[in-house]
Order: sequence, then structure tokens, then C-alpha cells
Amino acid sequence: MKYAITAATGNFGQIAIKKLIDLVGTDNVIAIVRNLEKGQKLLPKGVEIRQGDYDDVTTMEKALKGIDRVLFISSQPGGKVARGTQHQNVVTAIKNAGVDFVAYTSFPNAQASTSALANDHRLTRN
Ligand SMILES: NC(=O)c1ccc[n+]([C@@H]2O[C@H](COP(=O)([O-])OP(=O)(O)OC[C@H]3O[C@@H](n4cnc5c(N)ncnc54)[C@H](OP(=O)(O)O)[C@@H]3O)[C@@H](O)[C@H]2O)c1
Repeated sequence: MKYAITAATGNFGQIAIKKLIDLVGTDNVIAIVRNLEKGQKLLPKGVEIRQGDYDDVTTMEKALKGIDRVLFISSQPGGKVARGTQHQNVVTAIKNAGVDFVAYTSFPNAQASTSALANDHRLTRN
């Protein structure tokens, strides 16, 4: 079983990669990063690192090839591409790559929340 974590160079991603390696072993973990050089510096030796940018659905689809389960770590608002569009790119790539199981860092009660921060998460989950 192959497991991937997106945005793996971030604070959340780096911790999640280490925990996942402890659980399933280095050989079964793929770190998806925007910047390969940064990934090589920050991530544990031996872990497979693939390039994937939320701004570009093609890179995400390629990075997710052969993955059974993915932890999709949400993006931050305020980038050059809107977060909603980035997340739609990731969802499209997950579907096209045929990934069976997705865990997503959403927002508490995103479906019902009236917080502006919940909007992108609600759209992504839908
Ligand atoms: N930290 C927590 O405890 C925590 C808890 C719950 C939820 N979250 C959520 O998890 C998300 C990440 O949090 P964080 O603390 O890890 O943030 P962070 O340390 O700022 O990391 C952000 C990550 O997103 C990546 N990224 C940015 N733009 C990207 C793009 N276009 N394509 C692919 N990757 C891109 C960054 O890549 P680069 O390294 O290349 O910049 C980096 O890996 C946020 O949405 C946050 O709300 C975090």
C-alpha cells in the first residue's frame, strides 16, 4: 500500500511524514512537494519525493500516480492562484490518478460553519 502526503515541506507535512514512516515504513511513503530541492533538505533520508504544485493539475496527477491513500494538506489563502482553484486542481488530480482514499485537513464543521475561512474547505469537500 502506497501512502502520499501533499505539501510535505510545511510544518504539518514534515511531522506527518515522520509519523507515517513510523507507522508504515519508508518504502511505502511518498512525499509530494512543490520544491524538490527543499524537500530533499527537509525530509527524512530515503523517502521518495515527487514534485507536485497545487497550481498545476498535471504535476499533481503525475505525483499521485500509483498512490492508494493520500493526506491532502490544505493550502493557505493569498497565493497567486486562489486557494479554491488550487484545491479543485488537487481534487481533479486525485480523481484522475484513481486514488482510493483521501484524508483532508478541513475546517471544523465546514459544511455548516458561517466563518469565511470555511468557504474553500466546504467547496473542496463538495
Ligand atoms: N500546522 C498545524 O498544526 C496545522 C493544523 C491543522 C491544519 N493545518 C493546515 O495545514 C495547512 C498547512 O499548514 P502548515 O502549518 O504546514 O503550513 P506551512 O508550514 O506554511 O506550509 C505550507 C505548505 O504548503 C506548501 N505549498 C504552498 N503553496 C503550494 C502550492 N502551490 N503547491 C503545493 N504546495 C504548496 C508549501 O510548500 P513550500 O515549502 O514549497 O513553500 C508548504 O509545504 C494549512 O492550510 C493549515 O491551515 C495546519
